[in-house]
Amino acid sequence: MLARLKTNMQTSSRLSQVSRQISGQTRTLAGYSKTKFQLNTGAEIPAIGFGTWQDKEAQEDAVYEALKAGYRHIDTARIYGTEPGVAKGIKKSGVSRSDIFITTKLWNNSHHPDDVEKACDASLKDLQTDYLDLYLMHWPSPFARGDKLMPKENDKMKAGDSDYVDTYKAMEKLVASGKCKAIGVSNFSKAELERLLKETDIVPAAHQLEMHPYLQQTDFAEWHKAKGIHVTQYSPFGNANPIYDKGEDIGKLIDDPVLADVGRKYGKNGAQVALAWGIAKGHSVIPKSKTPARIQANFEGDFKLESEDVQKIDGLDKKLRFNDPSGSFGWNFYADLDGKQK
Ligand SMILES: NC(=O)c1ccc[n+]([C@@H]2O[C@H](COP(=O)([O-])OP(=O)(O)OC[C@H]3O[C@@H](n4cnc5c(N)ncnc54)[C@H](OP(=O)(O)O)[C@@H]3O)[C@@H](O)[C@H]2O)c1
Repeated sequence: MLARLKTNMQTSSRLSQVSRQISGQTRTLAGYSKTKFQLNTGAEIPAIGFGTWQDKEAQEDAVYEALKAGYRHIDTARIYGTEPGVAKGIKKSGVSRSDIFITTKLWNNSHHPDDVEKACDASLKDLQTDYLDLYLMHWPSPFARGDKLMPKENDKMKAGDSDYVDTYKAMEKLVASGKCKAIGVSNFSKAELERLLKETDIVPAAHQLEMHPYLQQTDFAEWHKAKGIHVTQYSPFGNANPIYDKGEDIGKLIDDPVLADVGRKYGKNGAQVALAWGIAKGHSVIPKSKTPARIQANFEGDFKLESEDVQKIDGLDKKLRFNDPSGSFGWNFYADLDGKQK
């Protein structure tokens, strides 16, 4: 009985938080005619976003090209070092801030609750804006506090002692203050996310995670839907990212014959079909490219696949995960998820 009362109280407190977010901060993207999804805050997130990890020096031009091509959703992170380039690209494009959905991420050295707002302020400054559309906890794993992004001791990552629940509670305050329209997480396991839901007030608006036709995580994706958590697929081209050495000895996902075959029907390439598959699942996708022709082509990955074609692509799942820094970060990521190497 007591337990049920507590659950009811938690639920109603969570509902009131969410309704506060919705009433105070809902934003629609005026004039954006491509696919958008609604977050649990009521705000809209464009289905195709633009990734900015790596090639730091190229990002000002890349973001400019992306905005010119029609993207209105940019993904960056403190650790990428690309927030200043993103700001410059936005400025050069002349697109108004209010028409762009900006996501950035809290880095692991700033998980201590007393460091979270400072870290957010630093991102806001570099992005030359006074609010974020979405602020994500990049990883559940804390590093030692301080200026070093990758604090090491005897060649090993020096861990911090903040609990991700406390970190998230500090992020919740940024919603209350208006600095963040929405908050969420990235790279959480199901158990980590379940605990977060139990012990905090604001249901994450989004979970950004590795997902593509070779790593579909169908049950996990469905679970997010049931909880009202939007999924953003990172590395939507699977092993296209040259840093993923695990994908070197197999063919590239975007060259998969099934994607090419489906694409022929629509006059699209494998990369565009991979993006359309994610969008068909109700997810946003954030392809990265520094190459103008690819930036433009990838934006045309926002098209509707017929359900028979979605099903063909569903058959490609290999439970192949390319991004798992458990060894270097000193945290066992994705313990209960597909593609985990035991
Ligand atoms: N939350 C996290 O922990 C996390 C982790 C990974 C990524 N992300 C986010 O997700 C974004 C995307 O993921 P990602 O950068 O790993 O990989 P991705 O977008 O799946 O692939 C990027 C790679 O594919 C190439 N490429 C792009 N379009 C192509 C096309 N049409 N044909 C052939 N090759 C193409 C790019 O080359 P060029 O640039 O040379 O054109 C680049 O090497 C990141 O930039 C980042 O914003 C987040």
